[in-house]
Amino acid sequence: MSLVNVHPVRPVELLSVASEMFPFVKTGGLGDIVGTLPRALLAHGIRTRTLLPGYPALQAARNEGRCVARFSDLLGHEAAIWENRLHGNDIFILDVPALYDRAGDPYVGPDGNDWPDNDIRFAVLARAAAHIAHGAIEGYCPDLVQAHDWQAGLTAAYLHYDQRPAPPVVQTIHNLSFQGCFPASSLPRLGLPAHALCMEGVEYYGQVGFLKAGLYFAAWITTVSPTYAREIQTPEGGMGLDGLLRARARMLTGILNGIDVDIWNPEHDPDVHFPYRLRDIAGRAANKRALQAEFGLPQDPDAFLLGIVSRLTMQKGIDLLPDVAADLFGDNIQLVVVGSGSLSIQRELSILQRRFPRRFACHIGYSEALGHRMPASVDALLMPSRFEPCGLTQMSACHYGGVPIAARVGGLADTIVDANAAAMAGNSATGFLFSPVDATTLLAAIRRAHTTFRDRQAWAILQRNAVAYDVSWSGKAAQYADLFRMVVARARSREDAGGNVVSLHRADRTAATAARRRIARQPRLRTSRPRPGYQG
Ligand code: ADP
Ligand code: GLC
Repeated sequence: MSLVNVHPVRPVELLSVASEMFPFVKTGGLGDIVGTLPRALLAHGIRTRTLLPGYPALQAARNEGRCVARFSDLLGHEAAIWENRLHGNDIFILDVPALYDRAGDPYVGPDGNDWPDNDIRFAVLARAAAHIAHGAIEGYCPDLVQAHDWQAGLTAAYLHYDQRPAPPVVQTIHNLSFQGCFPASSLPRLGLPAHALCMEGVEYYGQVGFLKAGLYFAAWITTVSPTYAREIQTPEGGMGLDGLLRARARMLTGILNGIDVDIWNPEHDPDVHFPYRLRDIAGRAANKRALQAEFGLPQDPDAFLLGIVSRLTMQKGIDLLPDVAADLFGDNIQLVVVGSGSLSIQRELSILQRRFPRRFACHIGYSEALGHRMPASVDALLMPSRFEPCGLTQMSACHYGGVPIAARVGGLADTIVDANAAAMAGNSATGFLFSPVDATTLLAAIRRAHTTFRDRQAWAILQRNAVAYDVSWSGKAAQYADLFRMVVARARSREDAGGNVVSLHRADRTAATAARRRIARQPRLRTSRPRPGYQG
């Protein structure tokens, strides 16, 4: 299908800048989104090229490619950019072996700590993005840049301090708890001017804040659900950045994530042992039996089989399980956890496995195959997240006929319709929501779901509604496309009116200064908490 047929006007050229991309490098949902959004956007006239660090997994995947730019001194490093078309995506691989040619997790070294040079590693990524935005690649001139999370956060700052006409930047927040904060002393090696270390610049509570810089200088900000867009403007959800986000509220939009329903199709999913059609999900019963066997649990069709696929962090609320286990497993309920992350949560899970061998099982580690098998097999998927910007596993669960039981936060609140009496009667219920997030409400939600599960007819209706819920990219990609066009048009009209990068930000700067004065100083977050479970 040619672009011309798909969209009548010239495609918008989008440079997407990110630190991970499925299927090459993924530690969580960020990789999924960066990997699947480009194809969805293409149908709406947005052509994406993605700039990624040259990790070993990408170097291994790349073909010959074409060297499209070389730098003798990119913040002190020799660098090259290779253009490649991989898995249908146009990718710029930023080749700086000294920074990216490291085995293992993209953010964390073998000792479990952040790589000590993460500041320079991701500053170089952003610096390269800014050069590309300025036209460093012959014949390529992006209309706008999408910077994902803190790792790409300095892109907008470099473009600002370069003081040259540049395309607008949309800063996308996938998770505000990862902010990329580094000591102020790192400023000179980041190639930023000394005067950038101020409130109207990259300074954040005395440090250099990569995400703060992106949020401050971007022409627009997006995040991954409307509810999260509201939550992050509150002191409870803003993690220190709520003042700035409130000041920029007019330029903050929440757009839900989608999943690629060509990849997530139980009829053709190679990881699903017993393929089934979405129109006839009775085939799930065989997958349930197989999963019970795989995890050494009794193959009981009447047991209410719950599953979790998750990073094991405080965000995800998995640490609540030990508090509910005894009550839960008193009933005919089984639980399988697939996850990696915090050692203390892993220890708690091992204890549960020893205590309840016929009820509880876990796989510690990252397994893409289990990530697909679980939603095709479990009756319900648990997500007791304390906060959840969007969440993807509830969407794959719904799509595969697994019913989500989730905290009423962020994107979970936006993508799940609670099975209350009215929603059940109206055939719109898709799952179970609970709040506030604690052991008591979690247990009550599971019990509520278990009661519905025992009513086979009601459960079948719930499953049918869940499968029918649209988790695809189509509508969401259209929203991104509209927003991107608006941001480009807005930037161009300012250019035409003689505006420049500095004047573009003056109004925001005043508002942010006022907001910043108002907010109380809050404890700082860690630099960049590891995203465990790297699949390279
Ligand atoms: P987050 O990005 O906060 O980790 P999301 O729900 O947005 O949460 O996305 C998580 C993604 O990572 C999903 O695709 C999920 O299936 C996958 N995932 C998380 N942990 C694992 C694991 N241990 N094994 C396989 N897949 C996992
Ligand atoms: C983050 C969030 C998750 C979201 C994902 C992709 O890691 O924790 O909720 O779905 O990014 O946007």
